[in-house]
Amino acid sequence: MGSNDYILEVNNITKDFPGVRALDNVDFKVRRGEIHCLVGENGAGKSTLVNVISGVFPRGDYEGVVVFKGKETHYRSTKDSESDGLSIIHQELTLSPYLSIYENIFLGNMKTRFGVIDWDACLRDSYPLLKRVGLSEPPQTIVSKMSVGKQQLVEIARAISRNAELLIFDEPTSSLNDEESENLLKLLLEFKREGITCIMISHKLDEVLAVADSITILRDGLSVASYDTRAEEVSKQQIIKAMVGRELKNLFPEKDPKIGEVVFEVKNWSVNHPDYHDMKIVDNASFFLKRGEIVSFCGPMGAGRTELMMSIFGNSYGYGATGEIYLHNEKVTFKSPKDAIEKGVGYVSEDRKSLGLILIQDVKTNITNSSLPKLSKRGVLDKEKIRESAEFYKESLQIKTPSLEQLARNLSGGNQQKVVLSRALLADPDIFIVDEPTRGIDVGAKFEIYSILNEMVKQGKSVIVVSSELTEAISMSDRIYVMNEGKIKGVLNRDEATQEGIMHMALVD
Ligand SMILES: Nc1ncnc2c1ncn2[C@@H]1O[C@H](COP(=O)(O)OP(=O)(O)OP(=O)(O)O)[C@@H](O)[C@H]1O
Ligand SMILES: [Mg+2]
Repeated sequence: MGSNDYILEVNNITKDFPGVRALDNVDFKVRRGEIHCLVGENGAGKSTLVNVISGVFPRGDYEGVVVFKGKETHYRSTKDSESDGLSIIHQELTLSPYLSIYENIFLGNMKTRFGVIDWDACLRDSYPLLKRVGLSEPPQTIVSKMSVGKQQLVEIARAISRNAELLIFDEPTSSLNDEESENLLKLLLEFKREGITCIMISHKLDEVLAVADSITILRDGLSVASYDTRAEEVSKQQIIKAMVGRELKNLFPEKDPKIGEVVFEVKNWSVNHPDYHDMKIVDNASFFLKRGEIVSFCGPMGAGRTELMMSIFGNSYGYGATGEIYLHNEKVTFKSPKDAIEKGVGYVSEDRKSLGLILIQDVKTNITNSSLPKLSKRGVLDKEKIRESAEFYKESLQIKTPSLEQLARNLSGGNQQKVVLSRALLADPDIFIVDEPTRGIDVGAKFEIYSILNEMVKQGKSVIVVSSELTEAISMSDRIYVMNEGKIKGVLNRDEATQEGIMHMALVD
């Protein structure tokens, strides 16, 4: 195969950040028309590599050469790469939340008529784009009102409106549920049929194996392996081994639950939409949690799982919540998240950026700032203890950072997630609610997180997990509540739960 078959050739790329060599002499080649998956542990350098390719890091900011369509690139920004036919859809979405779908699609690339922006033309031209990505919303819809999955389709529509020949997806399915992920993968295959080349970064190895024509594996900034899946059979075990550098026998730790009395109970909980007050989002939900139990909440996107948990957790969501909460058999109300935390309930949100991490603070501060009373002696902060606690979680969750003083915004996506989890674990709640705890987390670190949750319940705590990954829910939890359309549709014990069973329960009346 001649080199002309490659739409993209990346040679000897080295990229340094202060204290970190993110990419070390990386070579990477992508054939025209293929789906090429890029995998590796959190912090391996995947996002950095695609940022180099797409001009997020301008030429001069890295060493080495990027050749796109046979020509060496000299991009100064993503604007240059977009007009060259290369678009990136980032790990964290970048839409303007208060603008409409079509405004977002054409922002920075407006149609003009006699030098004036022609919004009518933009609106008209948005329809076929939305159809292509399978979005049925009216183009005037404000994007902040849409689910993450749909917002992502808007980003994709934006990319293809610029006639992309190469689309780069940085963890496109990490915030999507199974059904949405499947649709996205179908869309990728559709693009492939149309001759568009795709690069996809993902931690979900099953989906990688389902769509990849080629797979490249990064480890610690090095490209350690590359497979052509059309020419050779590649197994999940093989990929994991190349990613983590060792054999990983089990994906889930052994579990030996010791379950006690009911410690947390919610009765007849209802809550309405924060803007549309007559729209019921959670409808008369009742559930309980026992000491030592891990309980999962599953269900399709929009089932109301996150809204249920957030509204319970100190009214952090919605309008006019009603219902009762019992903590250790005593009726309680949580006036605010702070109040809930003080009463021993912890919550980790699915959206780490807006509700968790303080990006401009360092790792140590982010991990310890909700536990300062514990880390003080007679009202004075114990600096040594603060450092030790942060160090403990850095080690046990293997947070990849050059130091505890590194700003959170400089960590890779998965490592940011580990910081958010560390903070909640350090606060040591009795009742721990986690929403999508392993989103964007690599296989090895997932195992560590599951082990920590197991350790918590062993010590007599209780955990609620909101999870879109059914295999994870089934392997990790003692019971599974199934929700749909704001209602709890049923509950399954671990030994009777199957993926089909859960989906069926979600859909029956
Ligand atoms: N702006 C930055 N400043 C300093 N260090 C950075 C910056 N961006 C990335 N890094 C570091 O470079 C390394 C590679 O990060 P990168 O984001 O490419 O990882 P990744 O493979 O995408 O991981 P993940 O799966 O968690 O998203 C990490 O050690 C990260 O901390
Ligand atoms: Mg990344």
